[in-house]
Order: sequence, then structure tokens, then C-alpha cells
Amino acid sequence: MTTDLDTLRGELLAAIDAATALDALEAVRVQALGKQGAITGLLKTLGKLTPEERQEQGPRIHSLREAVTEALATRKAAMEQAALDARLASETVDMTLPVDGVAPGSVHPVSQVMDELAEIFADLGFAVATGPEVEDDWHNFTALNIPETHPARAMHDTFYLAGEHEQPMVLRTHTSPVQIRTMTSQKPPIRIIAPGRVYRSDSDATHTPMFHQIEGLVIDKGITLGHLKWTLETFLKAFFERDDIVLRLRPSYFPFTEPSAEVDVGFTWKDGKRVIGGSGDAPGGGWMEVLGSGMVHRRVIEACGLDPNEWQGFAFGTGVDRLAMLKYGMDDLRPFFDGDLRWLKHYGFSALDVPTLSGGVGA
Ligand code: DAH
Repeated sequence: MTTDLDTLRGELLAAIDAATALDALEAVRVQALGKQGAITGLLKTLGKLTPEERQEQGPRIHSLREAVTEALATRKAAMEQAALDARLASETVDMTLPVDGVAPGSVHPVSQVMDELAEIFADLGFAVATGPEVEDDWHNFTALNIPETHPARAMHDTFYLAGEHEQPMVLRTHTSPVQIRTMTSQKPPIRIIAPGRVYRSDSDATHTPMFHQIEGLVIDKGITLGHLKWTLETFLKAFFERDDIVLRLRPSYFPFTEPSAEVDVGFTWKDGKRVIGGSGDAPGGGWMEVLGSGMVHRRVIEACGLDPNEWQGFAFGTGVDRLAMLKYGMDDLRPFFDGDLRWLKHYGFSALDVPTLSGGVGA
């Protein structure tokens, strides 16, 4: 019996060692420890032995079972590790492969400029806010101090949605309703920008039915026109990447701001193109309107449930497509929306070129 057990142990351990695949190993396990297995059979014989025989044989059989169980587990772990190593070796990714050859896509100038704006304003402590493109009349007009009879409604060439609604529904005509959505959903102090699509029934060389705007809003205590001017100057210097940006604030009118100002930047002509920078009053220079802005009208603050005696602020809005044209030198707006790959190849940006302030936002 003793030699039998030793022989069996030797055979089983050798079979475990020789197994090269998981199913072969499983076969050895069944052969030793399965219902009809050799060790299982030996364990069953214990009951028929005399107490003395059992005392001698029991520990031997149990030790055999333990040795085989452990050898099986060790071998199985080694096989699984080897399988994992082989898989990892065959599934490696070469991080040094050039991306350009694999994914020749590019970032649209509008996306690029929106990323640049988010980066610039994040540095000034502004969060990015969003609102729906299908907007209700109250958010798009009424709360912004544009009552039903106001000529601004006609001026906006609004797309109205067909069908019965509690109030007229429109495709938002500007990003200004995001001011309202932000003031009614979060507590001041507020500093947000809101980039996005807007819609007007208008189409020619400089107008498309869908275009992009960015809105800015600051609500806090003791905010003045000085804060507005500094913020716009800082933003435009960072955006055009020049320190010689000169602003001119012209008194204007918007229903949602009082006072209101249109903001011009100075430019000079170079090789038949406008180059932003310097005073527009310099010889050969001129002024170009880039932004609408003003101090948030107290009626707007009130419409959002805030006390205008406690909270003040400024707002601004501008066209993203136009900013892109000015910065990157396109003279026609329509190709922005044509999806022409040649245009995109020429004016697009590498997806790897993420705008950062330290690296130059437009680099
Ligand atoms: N919403 C205006 C437009 O679409 C732009 C604008 C002007 C936004 C002045 C503002 C602002 O926030 O203060 O023409």
C-alpha cells in the first residue's frame, strides 16, 4: 500500500507537470479527485479498514490529496499567467506611431475658437454654461426685457416652432437666454461664458441661418463698467495674441443692458488685409465692431428673482464665426458650413494642438 501510494503520487505529479493546456490539467484533476478518481477511491476505502489501519493510512491518503490539489493549483496559475503574458505581448499598442497617417481629421475653426475662448475665460475664473437651442419665448425674449411689442423681436428674424405650446417656442436667436437660465438656476456670484449655436432666418455672404455666438455674464456685488472693459481687453489681447489691442466703447442700445456699449477694436491695413492691433485712429487704421456689451439691466436681474439693489453685473455677446474669420483670415462665412474637405484641410487644426495659455491659444 505504501509503495502504491508513492507510485500514484509520482504518476499524478508527473502528469500535472506534463500538462501543457488547461483541459489536459483538468483531465488529470478528474482522474485523481473526480467522483471516480483514484484518490477519491482511496478515501472511500478508509471506512472499511480497522481503526489501526485507518490511523496509519488516513494521514497518508489525505497528504496525497493535499499535494495533488496544491500541484494542480500551482500549475493552473502558471498556465494562466503565461496565457496573459502571451496576450499582452500580442496586443501591445505602439504609442510612437504617427497619428497623422492614421487619423487625418482636423478640428473645425469654430471648434478651435470655442476651445480657445473656454481656455482664456477659464483662466479668468469663468465656467462654461449651456442652454437649449429650442428655447421658449420667455427665456429668449421676455426675461431679457424684450416685450412682445418690441421691434427687436422682428429684428431677430426668429424661427418659430409649429404647433400648440404653452408659450411660443423658438430656435434661440442668441445665446443671451443662457444668462437667464444661469441666473435662475444658480446663486451669485456668477461668472460664465456660454458658447453655442443660434438661428436666424437670414442668409447671404455674411449671414447663415445657423451661426455661433458666445455670451459672457458676470453677476456680483459692486460690478462696474471698469470691470467690463478690463475683462474684454484682457480677453481680446489673449485671443488675438497681441498686447497692442486698443478698444473703443461706443454707446449703443440693447434691451437687456443699461448702459449698453458696442466694442470696436483698432486695426491697420497690411497687404490688403485688416490686421488687428493699434489705435483705429492711427493713419491707415480703422475700427471694427467685435462685441455687444453692457451692464445687465435691473429688469433682467429682477426677472430672474434677484434683487438688483444687491446684485449687479455685466454681459457681452459676440459671433464666434466672425472672431474665427478675423483671427484666421477667412473672408467668406458660407464655407464654414459646407463641409468641404479641401477647406477644412486648409483652415482646420490638428486634434493634437489643444489650446493652452502657456503654449499660445492659437498655436
Ligand atoms: N444678444 C445680442 C445679439 O445677439 C448680443 C449681445 C449684446 C449680448 C449685448 C450681450 C450684450 O450679452 O450685453 O445681438
